[in-house]
Amino acid sequence: MKEVKIETELKVYDDVSELPTDVQELMKSALEARENAYAPYSKFKVGAAIYLDNNEVVIGSNQENASYPSGLCAERTAIYYAGAKHSNAKILKMALTASSQNQITDTPIPPCGACRQAIAEYEIKQNQPIEIYFMGVKGKVVKSNSLANLLPLGFDRSFL
Ligand code: THU
Repeated sequence: MKEVKIETELKVYDDVSELPTDVQELMKSALEARENAYAPYSKFKVGAAIYLDNNEVVIGSNQENASYPSGLCAERTAIYYAGAKHSNAKILKMALTASSQNQITDTPIPPCGACRQAIAEYEIKQNQPIEIYFMGVKGKVVKSNSLANLLPLGFDRSFL
């Protein structure tokens, strides 16, 4: 028997204004996308913006449904749109922002497990890390240099 310790590495910015200007712009696109979330049930709106290596920005927001499991998170809405529209482009950066109607979301909101799995697929497909930035409506922003940092022990195609 041996014990295995898994470590991860993240950067935490105190405020969105500390981000490089291109990422601030991307976060702005995520914020705009967030406003178009359809979240009548959870009242929790999430916006995602993806920057591709062909200079395009693709956005997404969570889309809910009266049949709850039929809804989809912002991250997957955006990344599947990117995959569908720009199938050969590489995904370089992803910015995420979330807001709740119930509280002031001033802590960084990380992508859910299912979205991490979906993003991991594209990172592996393109063989290049995707930078992820996530925040609430204000306050700290977390940066991960790669989705892999957010999903240790992930399931991938190598097991199939
Ligand atoms: N949601 C996202 O869009 N992304 C996440 O990573 C977490 C959750 C959405 C799904 C649902 O519409 C609402 O937030 C509450 O879970």
